[in-house]
Amino acid sequence: MTKAALFDLDGVIADTAAYHLQAWHKLVQDHFGLDAPADLLAQTKGLSRTDSLAAILSGLDLTVTDDEFTQLAAEKNALYQQLLANLNEDSILPGIADLLAALRKKGFRLALASASHNAPLILDKLGLSGTFDAIADPRKVAHGKPAPDIFLAAAKGVGCQPEDCIAFEDSAAGIAAIKAAGSCAVGVGQQAARQADIGFPDTAALDLDQILAQINRKKSAG
Ligand code: BG6
Ligand code: MG
Repeated sequence: MTKAALFDLDGVIADTAAYHLQAWHKLVQDHFGLDAPADLLAQTKGLSRTDSLAAILSGLDLTVTDDEFTQLAAEKNALYQQLLANLNEDSILPGIADLLAALRKKGFRLALASASHNAPLILDKLGLSGTFDAIADPRKVAHGKPAPDIFLAAAKGVGCQPEDCIAFEDSAAGIAAIKAAGSCAVGVGQQAARQADIGFPDTAALDLDQILAQINRKKSAG
């Protein structure tokens, strides 16, 4: 039986995925005078801060020292946190507050499975600090998305087997991570929707009854 719902944060609960992209773009512009292509930046969706920076540098054929790498990652985070300054309860993406309430009503445990070290700060700004029964700590998992670690940690945090969880994601890396964990992947947005078990064009379209009916159909068929 499906007992818990695991959530990505950036791009699922709040539109902070766009802020990550803006911060990376400015960092690359400021330091290297380059215009990082949108498709390169899009590949960082769901990846940890350091994996994202490594992917961007490699995509632009840039090499930096270890110290410069650390400095660039810190500076990106400072730029990102400036963009978070105006985040508030209205920044929760459409449909998410209702979905969280509906899941609660049905007795689901809720866990956060975000790669972001800024997750507690963001939840606080959104007024969602008390909403999740568990918040998996990305600092404590060995491998970032697309590895399953953060979703396995989130499922464990709410005392559920991964196969008894549904998980919500907007990134390709995140969908791969959910599938590797053995949970049911719900994808939000065009690309994630194509790769997921169940897909929706955006958060406003998320429909819990439809998700649960589809899971039941799959279980009775398999
Ligand atoms: C993920 C985002 O949720 O968090 C990535 O999709 C980001 O874009 C990652 O790199 C890490 O976030 P932070 O806030 O720790 O830099
Ligand atoms: Mg995301």
